[in-house]
Order: sequence, then C-alpha cells, then structure tokens
Amino acid sequence: MSAVRGEFSSRFGFIMAAAGSAVGLGNIWGFPTQTASNGGAAFLIAYLVLAFFLAYPALMAELIIGRHGQANAVTSLKKISAHKWQKHFAFMVGFGGILCAGFILSFYAIVAGWMLSATLEPIASVVGLNQTATWLGEQSLIRNVLFTLIFIALTILIISRGVENGIEKWSKRLMPALLLILFALIAYVMTQDGAIEGLQAYLIPDFSSILDANLLVSALGQAFFSLSLGTSVMIIYGSYISKKENLVSLGAYVTLIDVFIAFVAGLLIIPAMYVAQAQGVEIFSATGELLSEDTLVFQVLPALFDGMGNAGLYIGFAFFALMSIAALTSSISMLEAPVSYTVERFSVKRLHATWLIGALIALVSVVIVCNLGSLFGLVITITTKIAQPLLGLMCCLFVGWIWYRSSLLKAIQQGNPSVHNTLFWKIWPWYTKFVCPCAIGLVFLHSLLS
Ligand code: TRP
Repeated sequence: MSAVRGEFSSRFGFIMAAAGSAVGLGNIWGFPTQTASNGGAAFLIAYLVLAFFLAYPALMAELIIGRHGQANAVTSLKKISAHKWQKHFAFMVGFGGILCAGFILSFYAIVAGWMLSATLEPIASVVGLNQTATWLGEQSLIRNVLFTLIFIALTILIISRGVENGIEKWSKRLMPALLLILFALIAYVMTQDGAIEGLQAYLIPDFSSILDANLLVSALGQAFFSLSLGTSVMIIYGSYISKKENLVSLGAYVTLIDVFIAFVAGLLIIPAMYVAQAQGVEIFSATGELLSEDTLVFQVLPALFDGMGNAGLYIGFAFFALMSIAALTSSISMLEAPVSYTVERFSVKRLHATWLIGALIALVSVVIVCNLGSLFGLVITITTKIAQPLLGLMCCLFVGWIWYRSSLLKAIQQGNPSVHNTLFWKIWPWYTKFVCPCAIGLVFLHSLLS
C-alpha cells in the first residue's frame, strides 16, 4: 500500500508535518491578537481548556478516520458508512472539507504573501534598494498579486514532491527553524522597556470575563482553526500514518506542540506590543481596546522595528521570515487535501493534479486580492466561522454515531493494543458522541446569532 500511497517515514516526520499544519499564522498572529483583544490571560485559559477538551477529541476523530480509511477524506468517510444515506453524507462532509481547505488557502496565501514581501523589505533596505523597499512595504495591487502567486508557487513545489520528499522533508527543516527564530526574538524583546508590563497583561488573568460567551466563541474558533480541523486536512494526514503508531499519543503531541507554540508566540507578540507602546506607538484606544487588531502585525510591529534603528532591520527580517515559514508548513497541508483527493479519485499524476489545483486556487486568490474590501473578510467568515466548526462537528458525528464501536476500537488498537484499558477509551467515545457535537453546536449557534 505504502508503495503506491505516500506514508510518513517516521514518527518525528509525522509530528513535524501535522504540527507544521497546525502551527501557522493562526498561532503566531491570530492567537496573540485575539488574546490581547479579549482580556489577556482570561482568553489564554479558555483557549487552553477548549483546545484540550474539545479540539483534541475532534482532532483524534479526524486522525482515526483517516488512518483507518488509508485514503483521501471522501473515501475514508465512506469506508465507515454502512447505509446509502451515510455514504452521501460522507461525500458531503469529505468534499465540503476539501473545498473549505482550498478556500482557506486562497485567503491564507494573500496574508502569507504580505509576510513574504515584509521579509524581503529589510533585505532591500540593507542592500540600499530604498525604492524597492518602499514598494515592498506599501499595499499595492501588483505587489499583493505577485507575492500571493509566489507563495502559492512555493506551496505547489513542495506538494508536487509528495508526502515523504515534500511535506515531511520540508516540515522537518522548517519547524525547528521556526522554533529557533521564535526563541531568539523573545530573548531580544524581553530586554526592552515595557516587556514586563506586557507579560503581566498576558499572564495575570481577569477572571470576570472568562465565561463571557463571545470570549468562548472566539477561543473555540481559534482552537479549531489552529488545529486545522474540519477541513479534511487531518483526515488525510492521518491516512499517511503507519498502523504501527500509537495514534492517541501522536494526536496529543500535535495538540501540545500547537498550544505550546501559540502560548510562546503570545510571549513574543504581547510584550512586543507593550514595548512598542513604551516607544510611543499607540496600541490601545482610550477605552482600552486594541486599536489595530488586524493591522497589528503590519503597523505596530514594523513601528517597533523602525524604532530600533539598524538592529530593527534584522529583527524585522527574522520576524517575518518566521511568519512566512509558519505559513508555508500550513499551506502545504491545505493544498494536500484537494490534491490527494484528485490523485486518488481520478488517477491523475500528482504533479499534474498539484499544478492544476494550485492554479485554480491562485485564480480564486487573485479574485479576492482584487476585491479585498468585499471578499477577503467574507471568505474568512464563511470558511473559518461557519464551515470549519460545522464540518468538525460532522466528523464527530461520524465517529460517535455512524462508526460501529467495535470497528472503531479495532482501528485505535492498531499500534496501541491496550488502549481499551486506558482513560482515553473510557472517556473519548462518549465525548465525541455527546459532548463535542453539543458544545460545538452551541458555540456555532451563538456565533450565528451574534
Ligand atoms: N492551523 C493553521 C494556523 O493556525 C492554519 C491551517 C492549516 C488550517 N491547515 C488548515 C486552517 C486547514 C484550517 C484548515 O495557521
């Protein structure tokens, strides 16, 4: 089987790839800004609880569906369906996830393109290309289109090489690089005035807001986006895991790494915001709201880097390189979802499928770039606030209600023969059956109504 289908060659390889998918702009940009605008440490606590108690069980549901099916999301979901209606439902959920992953990539590539151009800007300054540097630093249609396309091309190049030589190899290189840059940046920011105040805001909770429904909705959405759930990505990554591996612990590692990096990114971004404030950059309005939630990364941080003189150029470069790397290990997972489906369903060569789908997604991206004001936010809302939670919920329904319990147990026992005696097996099936669907559904309803 693995000669025809790709398979991760090692445990480490899978963990890096899945963590690479999970760790992205959502962790380094999304999480810290959401934390800063939702009451600091209270959000952090809600996020931690929801990530481990709702997102981890949902992640396990997707990984086990994929590993059992050993195929793309549609085929894997069909494999656990017994009746005709279930198979239709399987197609809807699997294909819906694949579409969702494609649309997520189409807006993600735009943001990642901004990161790429921001990475090149300090380089242009250092070598004296001041006009180029200015062009790279200013929003323009041409720049946005160009860098979106470059980013998609990078993603295509990696995915066209397949699982082991593409996804795994590059995740193993890029993820450690990301950690290194992250820690180096934190070490630097901590030496600056204002950093400690930022740490306090991040780590000392204001418990009064912790049960605020809006905060919970944001935290759950963030956890789902961060673990790449509901888009068939984790089903397909699960299908590349060997049956000799213990899935329960692999899933736990991925969740831990994802949450850990979000937490660490908070240690960088939130203190950096206060450092910027200490240097005279305005970050909070008079009422205490974060001024530029969306533009934080492109206004507050660059202002901070500018204030540092020459060192700022190098730090700015490192920061945006970090963002670009994180985005790339995530975007490859988004492209893999439609590519794996096309390759297996239509017996197309991987290389052809990758370029074809990559080109389609690039087209959608360009349409969005040309209509940033009207489409950008809309696509983000539909994919991440509506489709992701709903599809994630459906995957839980599949595992909890459609899949026969005995067959499910057998699938999890592979690589973990005594799992039926563990706490995991006592809690998780019941959890995916009742708790996850209800909790996700409630949060979803609330976000629809508000
Ligand atoms: N998890 C990534 C992040 O936090 C984004 C991501 C990668 C993603 N693959 C995905 C989101 C699939 C949704 C679906 O940035």
